[in-house]
Parts: sequence; C-alpha cells; structure tokens
Amino acid sequence: MVDVKQPLQIGNLTLRSRVFQSPLSGVTDMVFRRFVRRFAPRSLMYTEMVNATGLHYVKQLPKIMEVDREVETPIAIQLFDCRPHFLAEAAVKAVAEGADLVDINMGCPVNKITRNGGGSSLLRQPELAQEIVRQVVAAVPVPVTVKTRLGWSDQEINILDFAKRMEDAGAKLITIHARTRAQGYNGSARWEWIRRVKEVVKIPVIANGDIFSVEAAIACLEQTGADGVMCSRGTMGYPYLVGEIDHFFQTGQRRTPPTTQAKLLLAREHLQALYDYKGISGLRQARKHMTWYAKGFPGASTLRDQLCRLETLQEGLDLLDRAIESLPPEERN
Ligand SMILES: Cc1cc2nc3c(=O)[nH]c(=O)nc-3n(C[C@H](O)[C@H](O)[C@H](O)COP(=O)(O)O)c2cc1C
Repeated sequence: MVDVKQPLQIGNLTLRSRVFQSPLSGVTDMVFRRFVRRFAPRSLMYTEMVNATGLHYVKQLPKIMEVDREVETPIAIQLFDCRPHFLAEAAVKAVAEGADLVDINMGCPVNKITRNGGGSSLLRQPELAQEIVRQVVAAVPVPVTVKTRLGWSDQEINILDFAKRMEDAGAKLITIHARTRAQGYNGSARWEWIRRVKEVVKIPVIANGDIFSVEAAIACLEQTGADGVMCSRGTMGYPYLVGEIDHFFQTGQRRTPPTTQAKLLLAREHLQALYDYKGISGLRQARKHMTWYAKGFPGASTLRDQLCRLETLQEGLDLLDRAIESLPPEERN
C-alpha cells in the first residue's frame, strides 16, 4: 500500500493529502466545498463539471465555475465536452479563475452528455480523447488530469489502453471510477481493474467508487496499490468523510464522529449559506442536501418529508431547530 502520509506530486503541483473530494454535479458548489474543506483543509476538491462549449458562447462565467481564490486551494475545475479547441479555451478561463488543476470529464454516463460526445462516450473515441488532452495540456501551465470509468460496458472494458493513452497525451493523473458506463452507479465498484491500471501507467492513479468509510479507503488502497482515493456519494449529507479519512491517514487515529446534533447544526448552516449564495434557487437545491443530512435518528423520516418540500428559508431553519430540540440526550453534543 502507498505511504499515505507522503505528499502526492501531480506535475508541478504538490498535494499534501491523498484523499480527494469528487466533482458532483448539483452538489459540489462553493458552499459545499467550504464545508468539506473545514474538515479536510489539505484535500483537493473539484467544481461541478462545466460545459466547455457553453463557456465559449457566454460572456460571464457560470456560477458553477466560481472559485474563492482566497481560501480555495488546492482546487480543480472540471470541464466536459468533446471539442478539443473549446476545451483548451475553457481551460485557459479555468486557470484565470484560479484552478490549480484542470480535469476533463470522460466518465459521465448521462445521455444528455454522451449523446453530444462528452463524458464516458470519449471512452469509445480514444483518439479524440487523446487529442483533447494534448490540446488542453498545450494551452495551460497547470496539470491536466482525466476522470473516467472502466469502459462503456462489460463488453468494452478498455481502461488499460485508455489510461496509457491519456498518459502518453500528457495527463498528469488519472482518476478511475471503477464501474462501466452501462453500470451507472449500480453494483459494486470493481477495484481490481485499478490494480491493473497501476501496472500499465506511471502517472498517479486515484481510485474512485464505493469509498464510504475509513475502512473502505484502506481496503481500496491495499487492493489496488492506487496513489490515493476520491470520495463521492459518501460525502452527500456527510461533508466530514474526506476529513475523517485524511485524518486517519495522517495520524492513525479516528476522529470522533459527529453527533446528530452537530450534523443538524451543520445542515442548518448549509441551508443558510446556500440561500445567501444563490437565493431562492439555493433554497431549492438545499432541499436534497437537507434530506441527506436528516438520517439515522428518531423522527428523521418525517423531517425528510418536510425538508424536501420547503418553500422558505425560515421554514427550513425552524424545522431543523425543532428537530434539534427534540433529540434524545444521547444524540446531542
Ligand atoms: C449526483 C452525482 C453527480 C455527479 N457529478 C459528477 C461530475 O460532475 N463529474 C464527475 O466526474 N463525476 C460526477 N459524478 C460521479 C462521481 O464523482 C463518482 O465518480 C461516482 O459517484 C462514484 O463514486 P461513489 O461510488 O463513491 O459514489 C456524479 C455522481 C453523482 C451521484
């Protein structure tokens, strides 16, 4: 297993943590990243994926591309599309916005994206994928990385060849979500493929898929020999996860898990921050976050039903306050 205390070198960028927060569309906005970073100050985080072609036609940067340069480092901006020149142009804008690293999405399974040649459909066009990496690398001074899957389907697993191609084209790191496109998010992540990728490339390989706990992170690194792990769905409603794993890697000690009260107070803060940042649309987005937080205590399912319909900020704050007040003593502080 890799020495998890050692920094990770990605091109000219040195990372002090080997635990990353994944890009999650509709989730990893600046507000969410701030909470993750509170518990994992050294970890690399990603924006939501940004449409490179869309960026070419707009004057103002979309909000999902915003980075708080004062506090957000290390930070990756993730781009998607299949047109190399638009991706190169978008990468320049990403660096101007403050990206320490530019990541290209070659794993998204969503039809709307793959129909237009982006995301995981690039696994079926390895030459185009290589050309994308080459052009983006030529356009920016920061490391360019790729996040992808095992292949399009069980019949088309081509990650070994694909990873090598990405490396040859100049990618400085590859993150592998160990599922095929056809799997979506179903079934278990097949970490054994990551071990095989490690045998064919020299650039760092980050393992992604089913890292929901400290135990899973350790098992994954042991089984794959990967250079680090990336947490995804396990952070939704639980922005502590990346920090818990990083803390264990650095100290060998477990962080005390948050109480229900602490989680609901964080949910309250998250709701307020989303509203402050995005107004009413932030409130709508907050509904799903709130339902993810409200889990594992008496009355949680009723609270979720109410939170997923909230119409005003005050209603949400009141619901959470009442839930906190009625927690049994053992769930507090
Ligand atoms: C709601 C949601 C949004 C996602 N958005 C992105 C994205 O914008 N870019 C990306 O590369 N992957 C995206 N993913 C994939 C995750 O980053 C990750 O690869 C996947 O969830 C597997 O890890 P897990 O099993 O730990 O969840 C998304 C996944 C989910 C569930």
